Amino acid sequence: MIEIENLSKKFGQSFGLKDINLNFKKDESVVIMGQNGAGKTTLVRAILGEQIPTSGSVRIMGIDPLKNRAAALKHIGFVPQLPPPISLSVKELVHYAVASSSMDERKIFAVCEELELDIKGHFKKLFFKLSGGMKQKLLIAIALAKEPDIFIFDEPTANLDIKGRESFYKLMPPLRDGRLLIFISHRMEEIKTLVNRKIEIDIAKVVNDEKLV
Ligand SMILES: Nc1ncnc2c1ncn2[C@@H]1O[C@H](COP(=O)(O)OP(=O)(O)OP(=O)(O)O)[C@@H](O)[C@H]1O
Ligand SMILES: [Mg+2]
Repeated sequence: MIEIENLSKKFGQSFGLKDINLNFKKDESVVIMGQNGAGKTTLVRAILGEQIPTSGSVRIMGIDPLKNRAAALKHIGFVPQLPPPISLSVKELVHYAVASSSMDERKIFAVCEELELDIKGHFKKLFFKLSGGMKQKLLIAIALAKEPDIFIFDEPTANLDIKGRESFYKLMPPLRDGRLLIFISHRMEEIKTLVNRKIEIDIAKVVNDEKLV
């Protein structure tokens, strides 16, 4: 579903990514680990076509995200590490998501409820005025409601309270069938029952890639 070939990204003289080769297939549930600054988010941004690589290529379901970003992103539900500075109200954001990805608004509300986010109670608020955890919950709900083939979660529970984390992980198992799930996480304990592959990145390189049972 995702093919990455000889991917490198340089920032000035240093490498954010160095010669990465990875294939991700259907029914894989992958955790990507590695210390702060290792290159995990840079890899995700390259997959999403947000960054032009110095060399190498990415294909999402055969599509080059640099050439046809919209078509590639249709397949992906993504929750970023840091919420983007969206200057819409919560209501406008929900309506925008529904219109742009033809998702069912009720799905967004249902996931919010699972995550104990009273979304309707905050409809009029600007998105950037929500708390960090509330933003993360809403972005999770929008990504799930999209029902894509591929999910990429970049430290999705970093801002969530204990209950929020538990609720998030409860939502995951039913998503695995027939899809590709990629989690970036520092907490193996939290995620180990969900994943069947572990990739470790260190100083811009893949240093370990193993199947888990
Ligand atoms: N736009 C950028 N310009 C310059 N350097 C960048 C840029 N984006 C990332 N980097 C650098 O690339 C390296 C990898 O950053 P990245 O955000 O991918 O790390 P990470 O593995 O996601 O870390 P964390 O666990 O802290 O989220 C860092 O040294 C970072 O400073
Ligand atoms: Mg990161």
